[in-house]
Amino acid sequence: MCGIVGIVGQQPVSERLVDALKRLEYRGYDSAGVATITEGALHRRRAEGKLVNLKTRLKEEPLSGTIGIAHTRWATHGAPTECNAHPHFSDGVAVVHNGIIENFAELKDELAAAGAEFQTDTDTEVVAQLLAKYRRDGMGCQEAMHAMLKRVKGTFGLAILFQDDPSTIIAARNGPPLVIGHGDGEMFLGSDAIALAPFTNDITYLVDGDWAVIGKTGVQIFDSEGNVVTRPRQISMATAHLVDKGNHRHFMEREIYEQPEVVARALGHYVNFIDNRVVPVSDGFDFAKVASLAISACGTAYLAGLIGKYWFERYARLPVEIDVASEFRYREIPLSPQSAALFISQSGETADTLASLRYCKEHGLKIGAVINARESTIAREADAVFPILAGPEIGVASTKAFTCQLAVLAALAIGAGKGRGTVTDDEEQALVKSLTEMPHIMRQVLNSIQPKIELLSRELSKCRDVLYLGRGTNFPLAMEGALKLKEISYIHAEGYAAGELKHGPIALIDENMPVIVIAPHDRFFDKTVSNMQEVAARGGRIILITDERGAAISKLDTMHRIVLPSVEEIIAPMIFSLPLQLLAYHAAVFMGTDVDQPRNLAKSVTVE
Ligand code: F6R
Repeated sequence: MCGIVGIVGQQPVSERLVDALKRLEYRGYDSAGVATITEGALHRRRAEGKLVNLKTRLKEEPLSGTIGIAHTRWATHGAPTECNAHPHFSDGVAVVHNGIIENFAELKDELAAAGAEFQTDTDTEVVAQLLAKYRRDGMGCQEAMHAMLKRVKGTFGLAILFQDDPSTIIAARNGPPLVIGHGDGEMFLGSDAIALAPFTNDITYLVDGDWAVIGKTGVQIFDSEGNVVTRPRQISMATAHLVDKGNHRHFMEREIYEQPEVVARALGHYVNFIDNRVVPVSDGFDFAKVASLAISACGTAYLAGLIGKYWFERYARLPVEIDVASEFRYREIPLSPQSAALFISQSGETADTLASLRYCKEHGLKIGAVINARESTIAREADAVFPILAGPEIGVASTKAFTCQLAVLAALAIGAGKGRGTVTDDEEQALVKSLTEMPHIMRQVLNSIQPKIELLSRELSKCRDVLYLGRGTNFPLAMEGALKLKEISYIHAEGYAAGELKHGPIALIDENMPVIVIAPHDRFFDKTVSNMQEVAARGGRIILITDERGAAISKLDTMHRIVLPSVEEIIAPMIFSLPLQLLAYHAAVFMGTDVDQPRNLAKSVTVE
């Protein structure tokens, strides 16, 4: 969360800084700001809200200077006001920060007792105040930086300007990623390589504990002890091309409709479409050799992992522990090196997922990562990377990354079953054949359900609460449907295992509560229909999402039905995701919310 950029350049930087911030807006969009040094003094422009407000501000009051830092914020400490927007200034020091300074209260008290006057409610300001104090005490810029880093606890990506050193940016990393870009007589700094792609693809990643002194022609990197260290330079694959919305109203809509293509591309990496076999994927990770699997992820990626658990257990007879990463890392799970761990993340930067990965690594587990961002920290720290190849996902609500994660997990589970001898050759071919047919069926569904979805989502947009129910893999899918609806339409929604209904949630049911039941005609169909009867008996309004077989035999008088083609069980979660995504999308459009950048959210969650 929060995006950072910096340029030590030869030409004016403020416009380029804001362009780079545009590429980081997925990290937060509560406020934004930029600071430069001109004529020996620090200057800044800041604006509440989206980046466009900062652009307007800069048009009114341009900012010159050939060195600068900039920030797009996802508020943690302090409301998203202009006053709390970064860069924060204190006595000739400017700071932008991504992360949380955990001991800020203690430092703030100490600094205030020594006479410091704080201007903001942020944790970040203590960094600026501390550096300014050390400078007043007579320390040089680097000495002050080293001393400040010894005092702050927590997570940070930092970029700092000192007014009296107008040719240098100092950066530090502990947790959130920071990448240095090497240009021609200019140097760059960013939260990721995508931000720097228009400037350079020659990059160096800082590792945790590093801090760096960046000048026009090079960088000197230090470790936490202040020793000079060398970090490898590499060529980034990040593209300078910014994805557009095409003919769609929102990135989310584009990403929903892109799914047949991207899922086919993801599958192409893991299965052979000609002979319907899985292809061996990674030497670093062998599902056949492990006693159990620990999966950990957050949000939608966690729900993909939960569906993956059903598959690994069913097809590969591999016991799976799964947890949301924020719980996993603190649960003190007894881990054995005979187990392997799998982490799922679109961004590859999610703080809790990364921390869980490191915890498992310390315990000697082999680490696999199902990742979209190939150059991310999680990808770099894993023993084996399973790319989902979804391409950039711009909409904050995950859609295509979810179905690509599912496609990859399905292929991995079949491969694991093959390796462990629990899936026969014939079963492998049948399962893979279903996977290869999936993109075509996805396209068919996307082309046919729109009118029905629009009708239903108009109804949903008037509701306060919605319940989603499912059994088997449709249970995590019910939670994903509810998550999608709540995050972009702000309608309260919950997903439950259909069998759990009578253990509590049934108390909520009345004629105002739509209940979306995900029930293809699978092994659980009859049981889910019984749960639907329980809802109907209490006046609940049912929206049944089923398949042709289910629709033919379900006699229940439901409010509405969405009928999808009958498909094999292994691909049902990907196919049934589509109406759930579209229902949420259209409900949000009817309500007029900011679909691609919903309130309070960010695409990459780099704080705990
Ligand atoms: C919901 C959503 C989030 C992410 C979660 C994990 O639509 O996108 O719940 O799935 O923040 O993010 P990654 O996959 O980047 O680790």
